[in-house]
Parts: sequence; C-alpha cells; structure tokens
Amino acid sequence: MNHNSTKTRMMAAALSIGIASLAGAAVAATGDDLLATYKGQGGGTFTAAAGQSFWTAKHQTEGESRSCTTCHGTDLKQSGKHAKTGKVIDPMAVSANSKVLTDPAKVEKWFGRNCKWTLGRECTAQEKGDVVKYLQSL
Ligand code: HEC
Repeated sequence: MNHNSTKTRMMAAALSIGIASLAGAAVAATGDDLLATYKGQGGGTFTAAAGQSFWTAKHQTEGESRSCTTCHGTDLKQSGKHAKTGKVIDPMAVSANSKVLTDPAKVEKWFGRNCKWTLGRECTAQEKGDVVKYLQSL
C-alpha cells in the first residue's frame, strides 16, 4: 500500500465519522436546538407564559373558533384528540412524551399545518419559540 492510498483512506474514514456525528446530532435534536433556530430567524426572548397564552388564544378562522387546544387540549401531559378525524394525539409536554421536539423536520411540518389551520397563517419565529418554551416547561 503506498502512502497516498493510506492517506486517502484515512481522509475517507474521517469524513464518514464527520457525517455520522452530523446525523447523530440531527437525531438527538432538542427543543433548545429549535430555540436557537427560531432566534436566528428573528425571534427575541422566548417565554413559557407567552407560549401558554398563544396556545390557548382563540382565533376566528373559516367561520370557526379555533385554538391549539382544539386538538391538543389544555392539559398537555394528556393525549389530545384531533378535532376533525377524532384520532388520538400523543401528549405535547416534553415531560410526558420523550419524542416531542426531537425531530426538527416533523416539528416544522406540524407548525406549518397547524398554524395555517388554526390562525389562517404561518406562525412567526417568536410564536414558535414561545410554544417550544411552554412545551418544555410543563
Ligand atoms: C386540527 C388539529 C390540530 C390543531 C388545531 C393543532 N394541532 Fe398540533 N398537531 C396535530 C397533530 C395530529 C400532530 C401530530 C402528532 C403526532 O403525530 O405525534 C400535531 C403535532 C404538533 C407539533 C409537533 C410536536 C412534535 O415534536 O412531534 C407541534 C409543535 C404542534 N402540533 C403545535 C401546534 C400549535 C402551536 C397549534 C396551534 C397554533 C396546534 N399544534 C394546533 C394536530 C393539531
């Protein structure tokens, strides 16, 4: 084996370790990673209190009174129930559901859908950060 191929192999090994640790970081994401993201998107100071008022605030959308509680309920350590399909929704409190806020793509997907349905618009980075703080605080 000549020197160059050894070097190439070592670089390939280092690269795959780098990729593995990146993938590991994505899997092990937490609410705090999301908070950093939302801060970078223009959010300010996030508080659980603001998250709770946002969560329970009622909005007139498509002629209905809607809020995050419509499907998730007010006690986030308990399961919710989908307003349209009746499907059970796992608890949203981090303390009651270890899977909550661990998959950034999933979180973004649901924020996207749920904010549009509830508010008729996207949530802001500030609102999302406040909700994350609230879910972490329970
Ligand atoms: C029409 C029903 C409905 C409403 C209203 C609703 N949600 Fe959801 N939400 C869901 C469902 C269903 C899921 C997916 C649950 C699952 O698969 O674990 C979900 C998941 C989420 C998640 C992902 C949590 C995670 O890490 O897995 C977040 C965050 C969320 N909702 C926030 C909100 C917020 C904020 C509001 C109010 C603006 C809201 N939801 C209103 C039905 C709803």
